[in-house]
Amino acid sequence: MLVNFKEMLNKAKKEHFAVPHFNINNLEWTKYILEECQKLDVPVILGVSDGAAIYMGGYDAIYGMVTGLIKDLNITIPVCLHVDHGCSETCKKAIDAGFTSVMIDASKYELDENIRITKEIVDYAHPKGVSVEAEVGHIGGTEDNITSTETNATLEECIKLVEGTKIDAIAPALGSVHGFYKGEPNLDFERMKLINETLDIPLVLHGGSGIPDSQIRKAIECGTSKINVNTELQFAWSQDVREKLTDDFDVYDPRKIIGSGEEALKGVIDHKVTLFGTKR
Ligand code: 13P
Repeated sequence: MLVNFKEMLNKAKKEHFAVPHFNINNLEWTKYILEECQKLDVPVILGVSDGAAIYMGGYDAIYGMVTGLIKDLNITIPVCLHVDHGCSETCKKAIDAGFTSVMIDASKYELDENIRITKEIVDYAHPKGVSVEAEVGHIGGTEDNITSTETNATLEECIKLVEGTKIDAIAPALGSVHGFYKGEPNLDFERMKLINETLDIPLVLHGGSGIPDSQIRKAIECGTSKINVNTELQFAWSQDVREKLTDDFDVYDPRKIIGSGEEALKGVIDHKVTLFGTKR
């Protein structure tokens, strides 16, 4: 069932667990994520970055693929089809194609401009039942070849963004980065807790790869309700595919090559869902 993230994240905030956001790149990844989350009987958010949307052909193709898989595989868990770090244009295109959720990322602008752009997307999304996430501060690291330097969000910025836009979830930059960490992650848990207690809406943690399990548990204790994971899936999958290609020089069937990463990918999903305490 394709849904927006409101019900699953509000429950997660209330009951102190997190819902996984896994980025998708192709049909196989989407199928593996849906199968594993169905097996575990947990809700899932499928994240589509602007780069991944171009790679897969566009939002109509992705919507068709996801809804087709849900039907053909008899998927009955709540599935949220979500734009990850979209710009205004891509968020609107995705909504028009049937996506149930978007993250508008105008965090590179000054706060007033971030609020203006985010509000425009909220006004476009809410009448269609689509949920909206937005970012404040800067999440560091590299994603889809876009690199940014991190700047932590303040409580005042978070309050202004929420009050000025009526978004449904907020991703405050609090020290996490996209991709693997150079050294120990340094998350501001105190501010995370304060922001969570002050705001009514769920908090999102980007850059979920490479954060030690103990820190993920702490982030959930401090109110994080949605955790985004991309790099760890890519890393696990590519290690097994590389091994297959090295060990089996005669393999050329793409199904066997791509499929050789299935168990590794599902293993990461299993671990994250257990760690996050995700439930329906
Ligand atoms: P990682 O690639 O670090 O897991 O981050 C994913 C993410 O935050 C997507 O928005």
